[in-house]
Amino acid sequence: MSLIEWKEAYSVGVAEVDLEHRGLIDLINDLHALMGKGATYEKVVDTLGEIYAQISAHFALEEKFMRTSRYAGYSSHKENHEELLDELRDIMDRVEDDGSFEEQRLSAELERWFTVHFSTHDAKLHGFEQKHQSS
Ligand SMILES: [Fe+2]
Ligand SMILES: [Fe+2]
Repeated sequence: MSLIEWKEAYSVGVAEVDLEHRGLIDLINDLHALMGKGATYEKVVDTLGEIYAQISAHFALEEKFMRTSRYAGYSSHKENHEELLDELRDIMDRVEDDGSFEEQRLSAELERWFTVHFSTHDAKLHGFEQKHQSS
């Protein structure tokens, strides 16, 4: 079973953002599945690097959308993106320092990390986008 299941509630109503959210969920689910199949430490480190790169690009896209649509919650949303990137860097540093990874801990961290941001900051973008289109 996948670690994170896509929910309609995650949809923010901006096609490009939704597409990337689905891609990010797939990538995290792939890492979870790989660890379940006994992935090597190197493979896990590489995949975390890929997740970090895709998430950085995704945050940049969302921030661009928020700026162009003059979204009032831009600062706090961007701040949360920065905190998330810091947390992910800390997770990657820990895995590199340890020279190993704890499968369950890593999966739980990534799952919580994503779903909390999706269902709070990103979910608010959805309401905003609808208002924006109807005005
Ligand atoms: Fe976001
Ligand atoms: Fe997002």
